[in-house]
Amino acid sequence: MEILDAGPVGALRIAPSILAADFGALAKAVQVVDAQTDWVHVDVMDGHFVPNISIGPLVLQSLRQYSQRFFDCHLMISDPARYLEAFKKAGADGCTVHVEVGNTASVIADTRALGLRVGLAANPDTPFDAVEPFLGDIDLLLLMTVFPGFGGQSFMTEVMDKVSLARKEIDASHLGVNLEVDGGIDEVTAPIATRAGANVLVAGSAIFNQPSPLDAALAIREAALAGQR
Ligand code: DX5
Ligand code: ZN
Repeated sequence: MEILDAGPVGALRIAPSILAADFGALAKAVQVVDAQTDWVHVDVMDGHFVPNISIGPLVLQSLRQYSQRFFDCHLMISDPARYLEAFKKAGADGCTVHVEVGNTASVIADTRALGLRVGLAANPDTPFDAVEPFLGDIDLLLLMTVFPGFGGQSFMTEVMDKVSLARKEIDASHLGVNLEVDGGIDEVTAPIATRAGANVLVAGSAIFNQPSPLDAALAIREAALAGQR
């Protein structure tokens, strides 16, 4: 399967997290927000790395035909290397693995070898030092603004120091790396995140648990842009 374009590095990207959508109507969910969003964020949980189970490659494969957006797969799983190829075949465009699972250099190399965009994620309490050595080898750095496992948690403002540090390093070293935040992003927190330097915003409940997910996505985009000014 051909890999879709992620768009220009550093541009604002709104990535709705389908974890908050109706799992009985995922196709409709991605289509409803399509006009005001850029990527589709797919949260994969194995009940081991995080205490929750969500969806896997089979669901992704079914959903693929309903969207032409970049599928940004966030693998909250203990053994990502084992499943990368399955996600690629199912239609993933990028796969993000957690630095906390270890074996990072090898998993990054495997992801790259499959032709996928390469992401690396860090939990709120994981220091920037843990991801810094890999910045030259990745396309996306995901700094979690909640502890992964569940949607609908509160944004952790204290992660913004790490976001600013990452933005400084990415710009100073001219790295082609997108900086993503995930967890508790809404109209209020989006500008806080973009002000700190994030350019990819994942939002689940603030989009799908609203009367109009499309309007909610637009409101987040506008608030995020205001934070960049
Ligand atoms: C958390 C997931 C997030 C989550 C975000 O483990 O990685 O993508 O769905 O949901 P909200 O936006 O509701 O915090
Ligand atoms: Zn996520």
